[in-house]
Amino acid sequence: MKVLVTGSAGFIGYHLCVALLSRGDDLFGIDNFNSYYDAGLKHKRHDLIRAAAEEGSFAFNELDVCNTAALQSAIDSFQPEVVVHLAAHPGARNSQKAPFDYMKNNCEGFLSVLECCRKQKKVPRLVFASSSSVYGRNVTMPFDESHAVGAPVSLYAATKSSNELIAHVYSDLYGMQCVGLRFFTVYGPWYRPDMALSLFADAMIAGRPLQIFNHGDLKRDFTFVDDVVDGITRCLFCENLDRYEIFNIGRSRPEKLMDIIDILAGELGVHPQFEYLPMQEGDMQCTWADISKITYKTGYQPITSISEGVPRFSDWYKKFCLSK
Ligand SMILES: NC(=O)c1ccc[n+]([C@@H]2O[C@H](COP(=O)([O-])OP(=O)(O)OC[C@H]3O[C@@H](n4cnc5c(N)ncnc54)[C@H](O)[C@@H]3O)[C@@H](O)[C@H]2O)c1
Repeated sequence: MKVLVTGSAGFIGYHLCVALLSRGDDLFGIDNFNSYYDAGLKHKRHDLIRAAAEEGSFAFNELDVCNTAALQSAIDSFQPEVVVHLAAHPGARNSQKAPFDYMKNNCEGFLSVLECCRKQKKVPRLVFASSSSVYGRNVTMPFDESHAVGAPVSLYAATKSSNELIAHVYSDLYGMQCVGLRFFTVYGPWYRPDMALSLFADAMIAGRPLQIFNHGDLKRDFTFVDDVVDGITRCLFCENLDRYEIFNIGRSRPEKLMDIIDILAGELGVHPQFEYLPMQEGDMQCTWADISKITYKTGYQPITSISEGVPRFSDWYKKFCLSK
């Protein structure tokens, strides 16, 4: 299959590209290596994708998806069968600090991708990243795709919700097949430095107290990146999908934050100090994915527990982050 991946140098994009190359797919990656976090890490991931590719199986353009003309010519020349749109400004907590960056990258960028896809002679299937954050303060657990998502609590969540709505318009107006994936707290090697496990590991190593919000009463459906990539891949090739689909991709086991921290501290061989803080604005107390819909449609079945996944993150962190 010919697959175009936006955000290919990102955390999830990198793992997806390597997995698709190992299946023998032809890839076209797009990323602008922005400075939301260390661009050196993105370049390093990108080098690894190149190293994993057979001659001619990985093409790449450094471009901003908001540059519709440049994106259009990349899509025109490659003629993908599937587009996976992962490029976005991630992170709910940061979105209040840089609202215009989120609107531009997540909303204008998404519209640009939709427009370029719909203009193709053979319109590709579009699989795009949404987020568990769209569930906002929903307290009915586990979150299932039929729950109302009209009350997001961060700007980031609002951009992802709007992506889902706009994708619905394009699938309805133009017959585009659009598949939105609500990822739940993804973690693993080559992780983002702005995310919780990285921040905890950095603080543990530096001997700083860990900032624990909501006094530690937080639960997350931590999902190992290989499981997420398996879920995405199933959605790329599954023949059993409707024209417009929304799926949760999680592990379906909410874990106490303090349990994850215990495993990580054990792996790093430290006894952390804690600074307990109130709930942060724009945050959710618990996330928990109901995955029965994607399991039914695609056979998705996550297999990595936190007792296996956190040590795999920690091994990478020790090798890559501590040796810098
Ligand atoms: N990691 C998670 O836990 C998680 C959870 C829910 C949703 N998501 C979503 O999944 C997607 C991938 O997340 P990630 O964790 O890999 O993030 P990431 O930041 O590591 O990857 C995103 C990549 O997109 C690129 N990018 C951003 N804006 C761009 C633009 N305008 N043009 C071209 N490239 C651009 C960035 O340089 C980066 O390499 C994002 O859409 C994110 O919102 C992630």
